[in-house]
Amino acid sequence: MTGHAAEISKSERFEFGANWTRFLSVLDEERIEQAKKSLKQMLGVEDMEGKSFIDVGSGSGLFSLAARMLGAKVHSFDYDPKSVACTKELRHRYFSDDPNWKVEEGSVLDKDYLNGLGQFDIVYSWGVLHHTGQMWQALANVTPLVAKGGKLFIAIYNDQGGTSRRWIIVKKIYCSGWLGRFMMKLLFYPYFALGRAVADVLKRRNPFTSYGEYKKSRGMSVIHDWVDWLGGYPFEVAKPEEIFDFFHANGFTLLRLKTCAGGLGCNEFVFVNKASEG
Ligand SMILES: C[S@@+](CC[C@H](N)C(=O)[O-])C[C@H]1O[C@@H](n2cnc3c(N)ncnc32)[C@H](O)[C@@H]1O
Repeated sequence: MTGHAAEISKSERFEFGANWTRFLSVLDEERIEQAKKSLKQMLGVEDMEGKSFIDVGSGSGLFSLAARMLGAKVHSFDYDPKSVACTKELRHRYFSDDPNWKVEEGSVLDKDYLNGLGQFDIVYSWGVLHHTGQMWQALANVTPLVAKGGKLFIAIYNDQGGTSRRWIIVKKIYCSGWLGRFMMKLLFYPYFALGRAVADVLKRRNPFTSYGEYKKSRGMSVIHDWVDWLGGYPFEVAKPEEIFDFFHANGFTLLRLKTCAGGLGCNEFVFVNKASEG
């Protein structure tokens, strides 16, 4: 047994694809619209006609689908065979036999694979590179994929110091087997639910509709995001300034930044590749 399957059997990796498979059962048109909206807002575009788009770590395939619907020529890949199957399922549902949407299994840590892909107008890797086990290598590996003048849209977990280190322990226990999963869900689901209830009161949100409203966050689903958060291992984090400095040193300019205000979650960055412009 090698690669992904071996990492799962050694409890070194969360099975993201299994969670995305469950997510596909709640995917509806509203979530797809929210995914398209999130791409348009962050990238500052109305459509992607004539653009090439690579989805590094495509997960459910929702953002590949959104990009294809916006007119881009899409290449999706993921390390988890079940995530690849989800992305293929969405292509089958919405763009069957489409030559402008390629889906395959691959790793962002595999330089030989990446070397054969060429360059893209938009490189999208949301919530992926911190789950590879080699985040800084993965960040370096995506930079050559961005065409001159092209955009890189990434989301990376925020570094909360000691709190982030403690979450690693939770994730390791979650991935250790059924008992670990059961215990962490038992412990943290009530904690998350209570946190949401308090936030609903403070923000004057209706607690009965707020779970559905979560769709507005990139078309995602609360419960699937809780599972992804609890299990999501390997897990690394970075401060926004570390990500900025890294890409600045590599000839990229920051176009848009959305932080999680120092809390738990991802900071989102859109950079432009100015590297080879005169
Ligand atoms: C949290 S999900 C994010 C999925 C999607 N980008 C999104 O925004 O919904 C992380 C994904 O990264 C994938 N992944 C982890 N390591 C990877 C690697 N080395 N190469 C490619 N994909 C990887 C996982 O299999 C999983 O599908």
